[in-house]
Amino acid sequence: MINKIDALLQEVENLKAANAEELEALRIKYLSKKGEISSLMNEFRNVAADQKREVGQHLNKLKEVAQNKINELKASFENSQAVNDDIDLTRTAYPIELGTRHPLSIVKKEICDIFARLGFSIAEGPEIEDDWHVFSSLNFAEDHPARDMQDTFFIQHNPDVLLRTHTSSVQTRVMEKQQAPIRIICPGRVYRNEAISYRAHCFFHQVEGLYVDKNVSFADLKQALLFFAKEMFSADTKIRLRPSYFPFTEPSAEMDISCNICGGKGCPFCKGTGWVEILGCGMVDPNVLENCGIDSKIYSGYALGMGIERITNLKYQVKDLRMFSENDIRFLRQFESAN
Ligand code: DAH
Repeated sequence: MINKIDALLQEVENLKAANAEELEALRIKYLSKKGEISSLMNEFRNVAADQKREVGQHLNKLKEVAQNKINELKASFENSQAVNDDIDLTRTAYPIELGTRHPLSIVKKEICDIFARLGFSIAEGPEIEDDWHVFSSLNFAEDHPARDMQDTFFIQHNPDVLLRTHTSSVQTRVMEKQQAPIRIICPGRVYRNEAISYRAHCFFHQVEGLYVDKNVSFADLKQALLFFAKEMFSADTKIRLRPSYFPFTEPSAEMDISCNICGGKGCPFCKGTGWVEILGCGMVDPNVLENCGIDSKIYSGYALGMGIERITNLKYQVKDLRMFSENDIRFLRQFESAN
């Protein structure tokens, strides 16, 4: 009996079926009530009691293998049928949609590339900062309004854990670690507690520039800024510097460029003045150098900071700041060719 069972087992293991009908015929042959396995089951009744255990094990194995084999063949038919029915190999493929670079990334890269041509290298710092790097080291007075909850996001009401309000914090981070000469450009995201509107957002992007070396002068700053303006906008762009105030630079200035929309003649964008402001700058205050361990009697430096959204608006005339963070594909696609 055992030999018979094992012979059938071998047979079953090698079963093949070319189509569903053949498979059904096999199922009937082996697994139906009148099939081969059932008839072996009937014979099992007559097996001597002392052999029942062994024969029973062989028989159960055969039954299991036969059932699995039939299921396996069935599944392979179902799969291959599905493949045949659903795939039309002559159809054209779905187009793979390509994304585009975000306009702010395009402009950030362009700003960094221009300064790279002047020997600046990129430096980055954390967005979650402390008071020292954002304010104190940069000469902000104890009662400066920027330290107020109204303007700065503090984390968990801890006045020493905050979201940076400007990328000037990266200046301190680099100067603390590195000795002069330093020539860095620091792009990054900054946060301010502002109501969101078409012209303000609670987060935006800045690029900070810093150059510290022996004998760095305001003339060097002016020349770098003129080069930047001409490269970024057009060769006939003019610049003008107006005196201003920042705690970390002395003297400080704000820079305007001739309006690149009307070419300086006056238009609604420049409010008829022919000039638009694009950045703040100045000579690094000696206190800031000293705070970071750089000898202000030997070294001097200039710094500058600009908003990437502002430059992007000027380049592409985006009228609503909110567009930059809404991820509207119809807006973003318009920058495809600028990639
Ligand atoms: N940190 C300033 C701001 O957020 C921008 C700025 C102004 C940076 C003048 C500078 C600078 O490095 O010299 O408004």
